[in-house]
Amino acid sequence: MDEGRALAGTVALVTGASSGIGEATALALGGRGASVVAVARRKDRLDALVSRLREARGEAHAVEADITREEAARGAVQAAVDRYGRLDILINNAGLMLLGPIPDADVTEWTRMIDINVRGLMYCTNAALPHLRRAAEDEPRRVADLVNVSSVAGRVARANAGAYNATKFAVNAFTEALRQEVTAKFLRISVVEPGLTESELRTHNRPEIQEMLARTRNIPNPLQAADVADAIVYVVTRPRHVAINEVLIRPTEQVN
Ligand SMILES: NC(=O)c1ccc[n+]([C@@H]2O[C@H](COP(=O)([O-])OP(=O)(O)OC[C@H]3O[C@@H](n4cnc5c(N)ncnc54)[C@H](OP(=O)(O)O)[C@@H]3O)[C@@H](O)[C@H]2O)c1
Repeated sequence: MDEGRALAGTVALVTGASSGIGEATALALGGRGASVVAVARRKDRLDALVSRLREARGEAHAVEADITREEAARGAVQAAVDRYGRLDILINNAGLMLLGPIPDADVTEWTRMIDINVRGLMYCTNAALPHLRRAAEDEPRRVADLVNVSSVAGRVARANAGAYNATKFAVNAFTEALRQEVTAKFLRISVVEPGLTESELRTHNRPEIQEMLARTRNIPNPLQAADVADAIVYVVTRPRHVAINEVLIRPTEQVN
């Protein structure tokens, strides 16, 4: 097989494809020959991404959806299947990181993170599973992939990140339980846990939190979104009998 087109004939849905890791992953999967369904709320950004993929002679489709709403998550998955007739790969990447101490926290920030990092990911998973199972029985690969983008924060708890930690620990637990349930059917379930990656993620924090992060959590050479996309492409392009269950990827200078 031409490794450069390892995903030819497959359909991949990427949530949070309007920026950062999701956008880079959509481009990387498209580059391997997958038809890409790009999901997020900012339609203009998705349209620009679809144009880039098509200019590179790829196939792509934008779906504007707020996947914290169950019917919108289900609709996004259905849009992929309506458009391309199947779904082989789901990348649950959309997320939000709002940091700060737990005492006196604004709990609406917790709710927003739980809604997208946990509920959105679970809704998309639930909607996609029947289609992924079907793809796993079918050519061209006879295997399907679901990749959840967690974080180092899903493995290591840290002061000032408690609610974000809670959402990403939840992602890791959900991923491992699901893996045990479906892996024997050649539906591979993986978790990718990036460390500090250059993206818009921090910019959603309150100014005082952004200042604190700039002081305490600065790494001269962070990961680029394309580095994480590389890891995701590696996971979904292994031979059928190889499942990469977990990838922890940090910038070299990141100690913890
Ligand atoms: N950057 C890091 O250092 C880092 C480290 C570890 C893990 N991660 C994880 O990587 C993932 C991607 O983050 P990123 O760093 O690439 O940040 P980002 O650039 O802020 O991307 C977040 C993406 O999520 C989408 N999103 C947010 N809420 C949504 C909603 N309700 N419905 C649909 N899409 C929604 C955003 O799109 P719209 O706003 O257009 O909807 C955006 O495309 C997240 O799960 C994050 O926790 C990041």
